[in-house]
Amino acid sequence: MRGHEIQPGSGGRAVTASVEVRRLTTPQDLFQAAAEEVIRAATAAIAQRGRFTIALSGGSTPKSLYNLIAANASVSLPWEKIFFFWSDERHVPPTDVESNYRMAQETLLSKVPVPAENIFRVPTENPDASVVGAAYEQTLRKFFAVDAPEFPRFDLILLGMGPDGHCASLFPETAALQEKLRLVVANWVEKFKTYRITFTLPLLNAAREVMFLVSGTDKAPVLREVLEGKASGEKFPSKLVKPADGKLIWFVDRAAASELSTPV
Ligand code: 6PG
Repeated sequence: MRGHEIQPGSGGRAVTASVEVRRLTTPQDLFQAAAEEVIRAATAAIAQRGRFTIALSGGSTPKSLYNLIAANASVSLPWEKIFFFWSDERHVPPTDVESNYRMAQETLLSKVPVPAENIFRVPTENPDASVVGAAYEQTLRKFFAVDAPEFPRFDLILLGMGPDGHCASLFPETAALQEKLRLVVANWVEKFKTYRITFTLPLLNAAREVMFLVSGTDKAPVLREVLEGKASGEKFPSKLVKPADGKLIWFVDRAAASELSTPV
């Protein structure tokens, strides 16, 4: 599906929103296809704008992707032109086993020659989650040189999806789903009894490209609902990710796609 429409605030510029579902057979095929897309996007961004800005997702799915990129591209990409951020983070120290930063360090960043100054982790050591969110927001505004109320445009944002339809740390029926102005907020997640630091929907939807990686049978029911169902985005927040002037690509494997109306 490709839509050419005039988005509010686009200054009358025709914008392009596109959604694609790439169906892969095995998890390995999914990670290989996703790694190729990340490398393609990085190469294109650097050619066009001299740099590549990427926000990593956490959880377990992307670990294989990060390992694959480290194995295949450690010498071929201009890492000094690539800048790393996180689309969400747990409110734990960066050394904690739950930290998305730690996971990315172990699987990718420690294996490639990216300069330390190109890595912008969420400053979760501060005990006040709202201060962490505000500080990370300022980091983004300063890096992109974009003041409120504008939203910086990441070249690529990676997302996973939980079995409840959450992405980043935008969990069903949580306060962050209503945020329209901020880039990053601390979102209270009742089921975990903790704050999570997360990109907001307007920041996600400002991206040039968003990639969802969805693998495994446990994600099949929620993937069907998100791609084909009628429930509200409040209950399945991944439905609310629709880059206004950018690409949305779902990378799904056969197991995750097994309940779609046209399985892999
Ligand atoms: C996190 C992630 C989260 C994740 C989904 C899917 O901090 O946990 O950012 O949004 O992408 O929960 O997690 P899995 O990939 O582990 O299924």
